[in-house]
Amino acid sequence: MTKPLSEKLRSIPRIELGFFPTPLYKLDKLSEELGVHLYIKRDDLTGKNNFGGNKTRKLEYLLGAAKEDKCAYVLTYGATQSNHAMQTVWTAVSNGFKPVLYLVAVVKPDEERKANLLLDAIYDAEVHLVDIREGESYADAAERSRLLAKERMNQIMLAGASCYDIPAGGANAVGTLGYISCMNEIYSQTTHSGITFDYLYHATGSGGTMAGLVAGQKVLGLKTIIKSVATLETAADYEERMAQLAVDSLALLGLDELVQKSDFHVEKNFYAPGYEKPSPAATIAIKRLAKTEGILLDPVYTGKAFSALLHDIQQGLIEPGCDVLFLHTGGVSTLFAEKEIIGDITEPLS
Ligand SMILES: Cc1ncc(COP(=O)(O)O)c(C=O)c1O
Repeated sequence: MTKPLSEKLRSIPRIELGFFPTPLYKLDKLSEELGVHLYIKRDDLTGKNNFGGNKTRKLEYLLGAAKEDKCAYVLTYGATQSNHAMQTVWTAVSNGFKPVLYLVAVVKPDEERKANLLLDAIYDAEVHLVDIREGESYADAAERSRLLAKERMNQIMLAGASCYDIPAGGANAVGTLGYISCMNEIYSQTTHSGITFDYLYHATGSGGTMAGLVAGQKVLGLKTIIKSVATLETAADYEERMAQLAVDSLALLGLDELVQKSDFHVEKNFYAPGYEKPSPAATIAIKRLAKTEGILLDPVYTGKAFSALLHDIQQGLIEPGCDVLFLHTGGVSTLFAEKEIIGDITEPLS
């Protein structure tokens, strides 16, 4: 099964951006402490800038499409500390595209640029900050940022250039191919050792990572239960839309696998108090993984996902002795973000 899927993926236009396969290995100390066989897949090490992250896989296909379309610009969206936006920036500039960002200030940026905003500036990205106005939600401001971006794209077109429009999180059918490919990579890294993971935990936001993992799992016929830990409030039709995204992405590979909303397991109890707002459980999870295994997580995505994994083990929802994979999707640059995002991470664990 691996070979045909790899071949199909190879037929899609793509620019090589990262170092693949990313490492997958067992966390021996934490496995012993927790009583499960806990493994980690290091998509925080996708390369090539120093911060990695899940968007690099998606961008291989998205920039491949932008190149096919002969675009000079790529434009995308996110929050001011968006990892996706930062990865779009470095992958774009190092491949001859001009990046344009529309970033909603969910957290008001410090006057001195920090974390991903600092990196965006180092790469000379064109950054447009969009404040959330009184009475507006994040979703309202994001909608307004899409209208502003449309005007900018028209300007670019009038100047005779074209612009590739990447949705927030790279969550379209093309970007989702990156995580079908990741599932295939996990499969080929583990089949020889006979491991089939009982569970795979990861953070979900725009949903492309989750849609790709589930699509890949279906095609490969894996029984792994994929637990997608929400990092923000999800819309009522989230799973339904993600099932469609998985189907659309598989269609690009000529596959007509059925993916349904019931194929998704979204954990919605771990994002409180909100997107880009630190949770005490995530802070504990970040410090625990750092102190046992030396690995850093981030406060917005992976820290919350890892807190869900620890919770589920502690509550017996994951049975002792299970094989569990944690997919580290990156985001570590936000450990250097505004205090409002990182919270009390410097306090010692009691
Ligand atoms: C570090 C990190 N993990 C997970 C996610 C969620 O991925 P997706 O948007 O594909 O759901 C993101 C999204 O920006 C991220 O930056």
